[in-house]
Amino acid sequence: MTPVVEIRRVSEHAGQEVTLQGWLYNLRESGKLLFPLFRDGTGIIQGVMVKSAVPPEVFDSVRGLTQESSLRVTGKVRADKRAPGGFELDVSNVEVLQLIPGEAPYPITPKEHGTEFLMDHRHLWLRSTRQRAILGVRHEIIKAVRDFFDERGFTLVDTPIFTPSACEGTTTLFEVNYFEDKAYLTQSGQLYNEAAAMAVGKTYCFGPTFRAEKSKTRRHLTEFWMVEPEVAFARLEDIMTLGEELVAFLVARVLAKRRPELATLERKIENLEKVQPPFPRLSYDEALKILQGKGSEIQWGGDFGGTDETMLSETSEKPILVHRYPSQVKAFYMAPDPARPELALCVDMIAPEGHGEIIGGGERLADLALLEQRIQQRNLPRQTFEWYLDLRRYGTVPHSGFGMGIERVVGWICGLEHVRETIPFPRMLYRLTP
Ligand code: 4AD
Ligand code: MG
Repeated sequence: MTPVVEIRRVSEHAGQEVTLQGWLYNLRESGKLLFPLFRDGTGIIQGVMVKSAVPPEVFDSVRGLTQESSLRVTGKVRADKRAPGGFELDVSNVEVLQLIPGEAPYPITPKEHGTEFLMDHRHLWLRSTRQRAILGVRHEIIKAVRDFFDERGFTLVDTPIFTPSACEGTTTLFEVNYFEDKAYLTQSGQLYNEAAAMAVGKTYCFGPTFRAEKSKTRRHLTEFWMVEPEVAFARLEDIMTLGEELVAFLVARVLAKRRPELATLERKIENLEKVQPPFPRLSYDEALKILQGKGSEIQWGGDFGGTDETMLSETSEKPILVHRYPSQVKAFYMAPDPARPELALCVDMIAPEGHGEIIGGGERLADLALLEQRIQQRNLPRQTFEWYLDLRRYGTVPHSGFGMGIERVVGWICGLEHVRETIPFPRMLYRLTP
């Protein structure tokens, strides 16, 4: 019995006979030679098969292989400087697990397919080299997020998905039946994070969040993953620095560990290498002046749209921290700036190269009376916030936090045009399948 080996580890078996398990990626034929390309999820290797060196039925079975047929292949690993991974396989035997019939071939071929076709076949599309590279970078970013917070003494506290109330405004709630009652899918774990921060000091939650946003932009999903740190006693400045350190850490980790994937995606490495702290910090007022100078129609008091964010990102090679927006465009829980109470002590981080807002957060309203007033002014159902108000009744302290959308960050770091490729099975306004 030959050892079963992953393609990523064939270099440890040079000169040895091994068995690989996977799928046929491609097949090239040249006279009495066959060059099957095998993939197994960990890599791709080219096989070489000489007609005279194998029994005729083995040669014929490989010649009849179709793209994505599943198989077990045995052969000798040979170092070859010209091969993409540095190694080739001299194939001696192939066991076909499933031969995809020629009449009903694998639907995704190396030719160009339209986006809708690929999205309809997302369950198969994931097997492509490009999609595997994105999955790898996403995995690395998620692992790095956890490492970052774990190394800094944060406790992961999971927050609920079914919630009784809105966190980010009532217009983007997904309502679901909850026995005799109704519930909403969470928009953000923040309110629960605030409870957890009062228990453990520094906390984060990391899970799926939902927004019934009828926007069809390249930055919006209806289901996305968000990591949200919350820190007791932290002020706006502290949380801006935390966001900056997190983002720089993530970029550095991907540069250190995922160069091959970035190369597959043809990502401009030089642009990522510039992402070093400090990031530029601009007040909303300063950002507004820049935008108006560049021809934006935006007036004081308005929120930045996608185009405004893209214009702003053109002014810097690094992400930009925009702070102190007018309270009226921000959520009810934002603390007012004591120097100018019409402003919120909040921050948005805008990614470079037009990838939009990747972080939103700030300092929370810690004062009970002011918070009660906000809930009333914004017509929020008071009884569902009673537990939240308890946090201001029993030992309230200044505290701050933010949320970072994983898909936006993956989209930026991978240099993708649209967030739909950053998540394995995207959920969007017009897409719920596969
Ligand atoms: O700015 P947002 O709405 O902030 C909050 O939800 C806060 N409660 C977070 C907190 O302070 N704990 O969302 C935070 C981030 C955005 O900056 C963006 O990266 C991402 O979540 N995001 C989306 N990503 C994809 N599709 C959408 N529809 C998104 N909406 C927000
Ligand atoms: Mg936001």
